[in-house]
Amino acid sequence: MATNRTFTMVKPDAVADGNTGGILQMIQKAGFKIVAMKQTRLSKETAGAFYAVHKERPFYGELVDYMSSGPIVAAILEKNDAVADFRKLIGATDPAKADAGTIRKLYAKSISANAVHGSDSDDNARIEGDFFFSSLERV
Ligand code: RTP
Ligand code: MG
Repeated sequence: MATNRTFTMVKPDAVADGNTGGILQMIQKAGFKIVAMKQTRLSKETAGAFYAVHKERPFYGELVDYMSSGPIVAAILEKNDAVADFRKLIGATDPAKADAGTIRKLYAKSISANAVHGSDSDDNARIEGDFFFSSLERV
């Protein structure tokens, strides 16, 4: 089986609430290896660029404001079927619809402040990982 990678962020609400450790523990217990990781803060410009795919959506302005409201923890994760398995681990975008035992069910507050990001394809995982990390920052 091919090993592949995905990209995640612990979002501002979860970092502010001290849930970074709990979320990283769930990620590691689910078998994901951390290839790169850092805490940083997005400006409105960088948050807007990261979520440019959602530019036409009604929630774009709110999303950019929220993602630049405080520190985030970004990471590249490795596991077989990383993208699909990580989407299963984080659960539905709206925590009210997320399955029991998922990260969003446990930690998300709302559809906007939903604790974690997970890439939706291998291509986007690569693009998003490259957005945050140089080759020197990956092991
Ligand atoms: P993400 O990209 O952050 O992993 O989330 P996702 O795939 O589950 O959801 P997506 O459709 O890509 O939306 C990106 C983020 O935008 C915010 N959002 N707000 N108010 C709303 O109706 C709404 N819909 C989406 C969420 O923070 C969502 O994670
Ligand atoms: Mg998405």
